[in-house]
Amino acid sequence: MAHETVSERLSAWAPSPRTLLGPGPSEVHPRVLAALGLPLLGHLDPEFIALMDQTQAMLRQVFRTQNPLTLAVSGTGSAGMETVIVNLIEPGDRMVVGVNGVFGGRMVDVAQRAGAEVTVVERPFGEAFAPEEFESAVRRVRPKLVGLVHAETSTGVCQPVETIARICHEHGVLLALDTVTSLGGIPVEVDAWEIDAVYSGTQKCLSCPPGLAPVTFGPRAVEVIQRRKTKIQSWYLDLTMIMKYWGASDGGARFYHHTAPINMNYALREALALVLEEGLEARFARHRLNHEALKAGLSALGIEYIPAEGYRLPQLNCVAIPPGVDDGAVRRRLLQQWGIEIGGGLGPLAGKAWRIGLMGYSCRPANVTLVLSALETCLRDAGLPVQPGAALDAASRVYREASAGQAARV
Ligand SMILES: Cc1ncc(COP(=O)(O)O)c(C=O)c1O
Repeated sequence: MAHETVSERLSAWAPSPRTLLGPGPSEVHPRVLAALGLPLLGHLDPEFIALMDQTQAMLRQVFRTQNPLTLAVSGTGSAGMETVIVNLIEPGDRMVVGVNGVFGGRMVDVAQRAGAEVTVVERPFGEAFAPEEFESAVRRVRPKLVGLVHAETSTGVCQPVETIARICHEHGVLLALDTVTSLGGIPVEVDAWEIDAVYSGTQKCLSCPPGLAPVTFGPRAVEVIQRRKTKIQSWYLDLTMIMKYWGASDGGARFYHHTAPINMNYALREALALVLEEGLEARFARHRLNHEALKAGLSALGIEYIPAEGYRLPQLNCVAIPPGVDDGAVRRRLLQQWGIEIGGGLGPLAGKAWRIGLMGYSCRPANVTLVLSALETCLRDAGLPVQPGAALDAASRVYREASAGQAARV
């Protein structure tokens, strides 16, 4: 702007208030925001090393694993994906990847760039895989690694993984799992399901800003890394060096690898403390309850889910936009009038789906009520025959029944 002075341009900036109900990032608890503003420590300061140790211990609890090699990679969820793939894959290795959404597709791209010969097991967007599809692919291809997305953020599908993990191990194949959108929102049982390599992100159900990628590697995966014949293609994501900084190998001396994003690690420690203070089971129950209330309200508005019952993520509600409703106009109005962010559809679902996230700190009854009443207004203004108040009524009924049930159990 021509009339803007230098001092105006340089004065403090603050975002408009937003309610983040999209596919991530989710809202961040004030305690986590406060942690981001704490004074810096050096990346080898004993106090920072102690914080890293504590973070690893908490990550093991959240991943439900005893894996010593559990840490937070510096980078977003995609850095977690690359870490898993570049450390496990050597050029010419075979990998089978399940693609039923955008993030399975991204895994294929990352694996091919790492030199893998990739075979895709494909399903339409919005559907989950049957274990038999992987059984036949693993028999046919004899891969080193199978890659799967647990919570497909682009479609709201929850992929059951336990049987697929068993099939992989019966054939001596490793399983890598994307838990970017599942960790902290639904159970991720790394040891019980015997998942070999797992990555996640901080900005979904952990409700921390984006910037770190929690990862964990089981004994089979560690052995594969130790036996590599070729150098890991990425210097930055080479776990054999990173583990010397995190102390994940022997608990001994720490060696500088890169300057850790100090305050992001403060934030993750605080976010994990909040998860564990709440308790994993209570947190999963909260995600389920708010999802049930949202679902009842959406149903009263005539809005249907895209994934089939039984395969729906409570934290990412992927629904069909009712016929005659303008996707862009509704999402613009939600943002401009109420400050609400929801997601649109991706790939073949573009213009056809909304993705309503109820993740971590965003997953609260107040947000369910807000988004339902805003959507009701939008649909009524679009001329849909919506009964005023029916959505909030349906959601309240779910909350009422849940608290009556809880009172009966006390
Ligand atoms: C399932 C899944 N995998 C990977 C990613 C990539 O994570 P990031 O955007 O943090 O790099 C995302 C991000 O939305 C995701 O939802």
